[in-house]
Amino acid sequence: MPRITSRVSKLPLYAVGALAARKRELVARGVDLIDLGAGDADLAPPPAAVEALVHGAHVPALQRYGFGVGYYPYREAIAAFMQRRFGLAFDPATEVVPLIGSKEGIAHCALAFLEHGDVAVVPEPGYICYAGGTLLADADVHAYALRADQNFLLELSDVPPDVLARTRLLYLNYPNNPTGAIAPRDYLERVVAECRARDILLVYDNAYSELAFDGYVPPSIFEIPGADEVAIEFHSLSKTYNMTGWRCAWAVGRPPIAGALARVKQFIDTGHYMAIQSAGVAALESWESFVPGNVATFQERRDAAVAAFRAEGFAVEAPLATMYLWIPLPAGLPSALFAERLLEEHGVVVLPGSSFGDGGEGFVRISFIVPPERLAQAARHAGQVLRSLESHV
Ligand code: MLT
Repeated sequence: MPRITSRVSKLPLYAVGALAARKRELVARGVDLIDLGAGDADLAPPPAAVEALVHGAHVPALQRYGFGVGYYPYREAIAAFMQRRFGLAFDPATEVVPLIGSKEGIAHCALAFLEHGDVAVVPEPGYICYAGGTLLADADVHAYALRADQNFLLELSDVPPDVLARTRLLYLNYPNNPTGAIAPRDYLERVVAECRARDILLVYDNAYSELAFDGYVPPSIFEIPGADEVAIEFHSLSKTYNMTGWRCAWAVGRPPIAGALARVKQFIDTGHYMAIQSAGVAALESWESFVPGNVATFQERRDAAVAAFRAEGFAVEAPLATMYLWIPLPAGLPSALFAERLLEEHGVVVLPGSSFGDGGEGFVRISFIVPPERLAQAARHAGQVLRSLESHV
């Protein structure tokens, strides 16, 4: 048997991926699955994006290699969006990196900035590919447990000095998956200043920037003075436009930083299918006609989910952004046990907090990605499981 490297054996379980086989099995058994697992809504993408993809599939020039440059109007549409939405200028040629989903960009970014012996500070709970990218780059993960009593904000001053001295990269994600937390501006200013003082790359995952409620408008990290020197920011069409499967995303950063990621990618992929990039242009250009209505649908689902889970005895906060409720469980009740019982007995998929790293234990994540009546049904089942397990804790 050929040797498999330790960097592969160190990878944690990819919970959402592992669930796919289990879900197939349950559906085959005739179970009426309510899937609140991945952040993957049952809603349609903008019609203009679908039309652009269909049209693009017939254009011979779009069937060829994209290479790193890709479909140039996609870069221009991204730069125009960043200008319109955040008031920030990025050069489409040198400061925008088209990605095959922000996940690949985030994971590959570690290859450009981490060496063996370096540390990446990784929030837990958090998107599991932060740790994955770090481990694949042969570097060390310092898991930082986000705490409700600190509003789920990661404070570099809590990282032990010897670890901080080796830290080369920090992953931040606000609006936050899975907690739904948001970051105040003065917090972001403090983190940027700390990263500048220590030459730490700030990988800012802004996948939920357009999915915010009650008037909250998430910023870009580049609105913070000094971020140009240390940050790279990741955006995606997945959540904003219900285009998760299209794998269409981008990173922005100033040339030395964005360029390092682009260089890594030259040796890994040959660019994204350009018809999808052309659909990305259509999606970005349909922001005004599409996004507010889509956000209103999510807001209605959020409100329905919060009300339904509260009625079943869960002490859940309404998040100002994202598509997730981060629901605390009674002390001592393992989240994996709760999720397993809910799946096996009622066909409701939720993600145990522990699947976001040890720091996520004590919570479950539900994605409010289905209509209110299905959310209410899921909440009733969750309440039944809660009551049956409460006697065990
Ligand atoms: C999620 O948190 O649901 C992710 O976006 C799905 C994934 O890429 O793992």
